[in-house]
Amino acid sequence: MTKLAILGGESLIDKQLKPYRSIGPLEIKAVEETMRTGVISGFYGDFCNEFWGGPKVNEFENTWASRFDVRHAVTVNSATSALYAAIGAIGISPGDEVIVPPYTMSATVMAPIVYGGIPVFADIESDTFGLDPESVRQAITSKTKAILTVNLFGHTSQLDELMDIAKQNNIYLIEDNAQGPLAEDNGRLAGTIGHIGVFSLNYHKHIHTGEGGICVTDDDNLALRMKLIRNHGENVVEPLEIDDLTNLIGFNFRLTEIQAAIGIEQLKKIDHHVEKREKIAKSLSESLNDLPGIFPPIIRKGCRHVFYVWGAKFDEKIVGVSRDVFSKALEMEGFPHFTGYCKPLYHLPVFQKQVAFGNQGHPFNINKNVNYEKTDCPVCEYMYQKAFIGFEPCAYDINDNDLDLLIAAFRKVYNQKDKLITMSK
Ligand SMILES: Cc1ncc(COP(=O)(O)O)c(C=O)c1O
Repeated sequence: MTKLAILGGESLIDKQLKPYRSIGPLEIKAVEETMRTGVISGFYGDFCNEFWGGPKVNEFENTWASRFDVRHAVTVNSATSALYAAIGAIGISPGDEVIVPPYTMSATVMAPIVYGGIPVFADIESDTFGLDPESVRQAITSKTKAILTVNLFGHTSQLDELMDIAKQNNIYLIEDNAQGPLAEDNGRLAGTIGHIGVFSLNYHKHIHTGEGGICVTDDDNLALRMKLIRNHGENVVEPLEIDDLTNLIGFNFRLTEIQAAIGIEQLKKIDHHVEKREKIAKSLSESLNDLPGIFPPIIRKGCRHVFYVWGAKFDEKIVGVSRDVFSKALEMEGFPHFTGYCKPLYHLPVFQKQVAFGNQGHPFNINKNVNYEKTDCPVCEYMYQKAFIGFEPCAYDINDNDLDLLIAAFRKVYNQKDKLITMSK
């Protein structure tokens, strides 16, 4: 492998790219003002006005709801919590199946298990990496209660088709839109098309509050259930006259006033942060588009891609060298990137171990429909093993000069691929 060094000679990018910082003086001022009020968290876990959160949390929820044009925005302390709240709100019960993609952050597929639900993996599309509707159709059984799709890397899944499948089967569609704020599908904002949409405000996202998450919905009952899950809902059943908390566990998913104050400022800047990433992605795509075997991300007609990740597909048959060898050379040029994204999640021990030991634990002992040992999503496997190369525009503060260097580094490796071919023989 070390021989690859001769490719680069001296790396084109010899410095670390500057990390991206979206927090500025406005957020600092907002935090200071909030600290001075003395109210760091405005929540109280029993029935009173504060059950619904403090003034900043409420202001943040209202501005988020109006920005995304939804009836309800429910803040929580992470998108992981938001997924738990969403899955709990739709009443997933032990043995219920939830169709999920294997190509996502692990939190997506863990959420159903918290309620005894069974994640059922369907394959992804090869163009934009969301759930493939055909594979979803094949995965539906009489036990399916929901489809949990992911708008991966900032591009929407096939939401209309998935919503049609949900309606035909009288089940829910939840969008994990952690990576896609302001992504669009025919004028509609990602996260607002399914019954519930989930956003992440963790440090790596387009805008953030350090940690944080938001669920959006137009359904009053789902919104109420998510608020109950967020804050020990079992404590308020009497005053709220609630007699059905089916499968509803009250957690502490509360956002602090400080995080909400940061979120209010961040939301004002969301267009800027998204547009910046779109510009970087556009330059990368346009400048690498002519390289045979390198396929920059596509944007489906009528959609807006917000590029949490700029992800290219690599065809080793056309390029003549494996993605991993190419990646090594890119790394040596100083081009920060990753390959594969995540190993298809059905390979995780949580799924494979209980199959191997035969003594399936809860909830897999209740519903034995699903055999994870036999689960195989070929498109996802191919992306992971051979094709996917990703770059995170959200991670770096890139100027035009950095962008030129990134493009030059990629082209340099590509133009010398014959040397790589010789070396890898
Ligand atoms: C698709 C997806 N879902 C869920 C999450 C979990 O987000 P959080 O870190 O806010 O819990 C992430 C985080 O990166 C994600 O990318």
